[in-house]
Amino acid sequence: QEAHAAELERTFIAIKPDGVQRGLISEIISRFERKGFKLVAIKIVIPSKDFAEKHYHDLKTRPFFDGLCDFLSSGPVVAMVWEGEGVIKYGRKLIGATDPQKSEPGTIRGDLAVVVGRNIIHGSDGPETAKDEISLWFKPEELVAYTSNAEKWIY
Ligand code: TYD
Repeated sequence: QEAHAAELERTFIAIKPDGVQRGLISEIISRFERKGFKLVAIKIVIPSKDFAEKHYHDLKTRPFFDGLCDFLSSGPVVAMVWEGEGVIKYGRKLIGATDPQKSEPGTIRGDLAVVVGRNIIHGSDGPETAKDEISLWFKPEELVAYTSNAEKWIY
């Protein structure tokens, strides 16, 4: 049975300012791409502090909240929506544990980051946050729906 693209699961993934400035954009994108997930929206933006606070509103009471929002708004962020079966949960698996000291080798944070406050990437932690974060960062018309037809381009 064929699934319609519009029905597939989607998650919000962001490469944080440290990941962008360290030149890790293509490295991170390639891990999601090679896994077989589909990129359906992407842009590069410098979020305002106010916007960063909206994004991390769930963490408002945590002691690291202010520094975290300063950091997220300190430079360009690559904001993306990735689509595919199980992409929310498996995306978190590709990313690894929040604290890079505890992330397994083979994960993005495990391989590429060292400290929790500079862990290079964000990924939605569940279906509700995915929905909220996608609509915070993107307008509906910025998401594309398409069917990949790769064999068409093999000659
Ligand atoms: P959180 O949502 O708990 O983790 P994740 O990004 O894995 O979903 O926290 C958001 C970000 O806050 C996290 O990526 C890094 C930062 N952070 C700290 O700076 N110190 C901390 O002790 C924690 C838990 C998070």
